[in-house]
Amino acid sequence: MRILAIETSCDETSAAVVEGKPNDKQVSILSNVISTSLSLHAKTGGIIPETAAREQIKYIIPVIQQALINANLKLYPKPYTLNPDSIDALAVTIGPGLIGSLLVGVETAKTLAMCWNKPIIPVNHLYGHIYANFLTTNDQGPTTIQFPALALIASGGHTDLVLIKDHKKIKWIAGTRDDAAGEAFDKIGRLLNLSYPGGPEIEKRAKAGNPKVLHLPRPLLYEDTFDFSFSGLKTAVLREVQKHKELSNQQINDLCLEVQNSIIEVLVKKTLRAGEKYQVKSILLSGGVAANQALRDQFKFELNTKRYTLHPKFFAPAKNLCTDNAAMIGSAAFYNYKEVSWQTLTANPELYFS
Ligand code: KG4
Ligand code: ZN
Repeated sequence: MRILAIETSCDETSAAVVEGKPNDKQVSILSNVISTSLSLHAKTGGIIPETAAREQIKYIIPVIQQALINANLKLYPKPYTLNPDSIDALAVTIGPGLIGSLLVGVETAKTLAMCWNKPIIPVNHLYGHIYANFLTTNDQGPTTIQFPALALIASGGHTDLVLIKDHKKIKWIAGTRDDAAGEAFDKIGRLLNLSYPGGPEIEKRAKAGNPKVLHLPRPLLYEDTFDFSFSGLKTAVLREVQKHKELSNQQINDLCLEVQNSIIEVLVKKTLRAGEKYQVKSILLSGGVAANQALRDQFKFELNTKRYTLHPKFFAPAKNLCTDNAAMIGSAAFYNYKEVSWQTLTANPELYFS
């Protein structure tokens, strides 16, 4: 089955064609086109929803066109073709996300489904992040994910732990009580006058930080809960900033390292504790924060040095597939296949785990 997937929930406009066969353990990517308005949002230090949607409406058709052309170039001899016969179904992110942005993708997908007479599969964006691990490009190569698996979704809007007993059997376990991990990176980045988004910038600066000069809190780490909380960390950084008239370059680097260490320690320890409790065989890292190399390394280090009953295998998507993209939406659609008629499809900005 070949699926043309569309993702427009936040600041990216993306379309992809993915392919999977009935018993495939992984899905392959025939094309994955991403147009980002990040540089535009960097100017304002964050996303202005209306600006995001206005940009997406300009790019959605060219992005879909390019995704189809790239896929068809792989499937058929040249000259390239825009022929939609190569796809069996459409998939689209219906939520959670910004309503204006979601509508761009949903209404476009509905139009195409009607014109091309194709089935359409609604996808929860959070499932999409998890299913980036089921693309053939995950960092374990063809090693297959075994169930039960525990997924940590750490993105700009969410920090959730979910238990996956099997495809279509996904249970939410815990989430953040305030800011998401990516949101914490972004807000702290703004406090330190770093460019948006804060996550990659903090990761870069952390490399030059000294780990011995300050200590920030590890929120909820030792409480009897799998929930997360990151707003206290942001307040602790604000206090550090207010202590100084002006921060030196080195002081900013030191703060970046300690912020990153705090977020990583909390994410890794809580995830592995939950993994032990639910006796999982696989740990799946996902969401934009999963692109952080230190976080990936810390998961691997903990799993290599400590004993766990079932000793779960660690998976993370290829770095460029951690942040928003349509290939992950196609993957989620393939494994959670559920057609709806285009007439009933609606965007739901508040969609979560049911
Ligand atoms: O998943 P995503 O693309 O969008 C949402 O669905 O929210 O995640 C974006 C988030 C941003 O908060 C960004 O700062 C964070 O992912 N991020 C990172 C890194 N790359 C992106 N955080 C830490 N380290 C990174 N290398
Ligand atoms: Zn996302």
